[in-house]
Amino acid sequence: MQYINAEITQSNRFYGNTNPYELIEQYGSPLYVYNEKIFRQRCREMKTFIPYPKISVNYSVKANNNLQLLKIAREEGLNVDAMSPGEIYFELEAGFKPEQILFICNNVSKEEMQFAIDRNITISVDSLSQLEQFGQINPGGSVAIRFNPGVGAGHSQKVITAGKGTKFGVDTSFLPEVKEILKKYHLKLVGINQHIGSLFLEGSAYLEAVKSLLSVASQFENLEFVDFGGGFGIPYKKQENQDRLDLSKLGEEIAAILHDWTASYGKKITFKIEPGRYISAEAGVLLGTVHAVKINHQDKYIGTDLGFNVLIRPVMYDSHHDIEIYRNNDTPSSRKEIVTIVGNICETGDYIAKERLLPEIFEGDIIGVLDAGAYGIVMSSNYNNRLRPAEVLIKENGDPMLVRRRDTFEDLIRFYK
Ligand code: LLP
Repeated sequence: MQYINAEITQSNRFYGNTNPYELIEQYGSPLYVYNEKIFRQRCREMKTFIPYPKISVNYSVKANNNLQLLKIAREEGLNVDAMSPGEIYFELEAGFKPEQILFICNNVSKEEMQFAIDRNITISVDSLSQLEQFGQINPGGSVAIRFNPGVGAGHSQKVITAGKGTKFGVDTSFLPEVKEILKKYHLKLVGINQHIGSLFLEGSAYLEAVKSLLSVASQFENLEFVDFGGGFGIPYKKQENQDRLDLSKLGEEIAAILHDWTASYGKKITFKIEPGRYISAEAGVLLGTVHAVKINHQDKYIGTDLGFNVLIRPVMYDSHHDIEIYRNNDTPSSRKEIVTIVGNICETGDYIAKERLLPEIFEGDIIGVLDAGAYGIVMSSNYNNRLRPAEVLIKENGDPMLVRRRDTFEDLIRFYK
């Protein structure tokens, strides 16, 4: 087998004792492949980069909720956040205890709040209306509140979740109203949180938001935690040597702020962070097969089974994922050319990589879409009645293990029966 344009996965021995062809042969195409070593490594980096004793890393499972990965995150000593009762259900199933889960909800029903209350899971509400509703169903209870610190960051307008122009968090100008509702229902405010957005590679906005949230925290006496959210970015353009986020510098800077603030607050509380992408993105590669190569009005298209039902990020956010090529014969790629890699869905917007300069690709090649472990399978769908791919984990000993089977036609029809 030839690895073409594949320095990234070769340098970290991503496929362990196997290779993309064997994997596809055994588990079908397309296929999500995860690497346990990398996943664990990222968990550990998140656990240690802030040199401060009371840090809780809450893995944001919306990035990848594969049960096996959740169990590994738990083994690594991480806690979790949840966005929905469905995520809570998975987290409990993976063995997390209720006190390890923070339900950061947005516009949920009273029934959904009750689902968490019944299981002793702390809820963070994100509007005055939801705080009021929480008070009505759980007077005297403990609650957390999500604030909007006024600073946002992220790779696309669609994922910036603080500042102006976003639905998230309570605007801090409503602090008097917050206090009034807390008093009215005898609620105990145990924590406050924020999430400024997803994917920053430079820490200044996060630091500014940390300071801003701590100034809100200072206004409440008995907090148990302050949660600064996730958003820690990864370099999606590794083939162009894009720099990594400087975690050790950011960690030092955060710790300095925390030490100062704790001295003035007079009580040691827990600080939480909520990384999703940082932990799972680089631990995943999406494999697909080239079924057709064609030229349409001078443009070259590589036709694969990687439709946007499998990975929607390129279509939804114009996101870049590096591409590798694997070939099961000796044919050389004698030149580079500009190609657009497309899927098998009946929409023109169905692409995975647009106008890329890549070594020549042929029918039968396998395409590796890098950094696909976050917001990949979780955002996949059955559009066009396509089957969602299987997920395979390359274990620490290098052997593959099926961690979620591929959909079947039976799965597609089950709700009609
Ligand atoms: N905490 C909260 C409250 C969040 O809403 C999110 C992500 C996170 C933590 C984790 O953010 P991360 O560390 O993964 O950046 N589908 C988009 C990303 C959406 C992020 C949604 N919220 C994408 O594919 O880029």
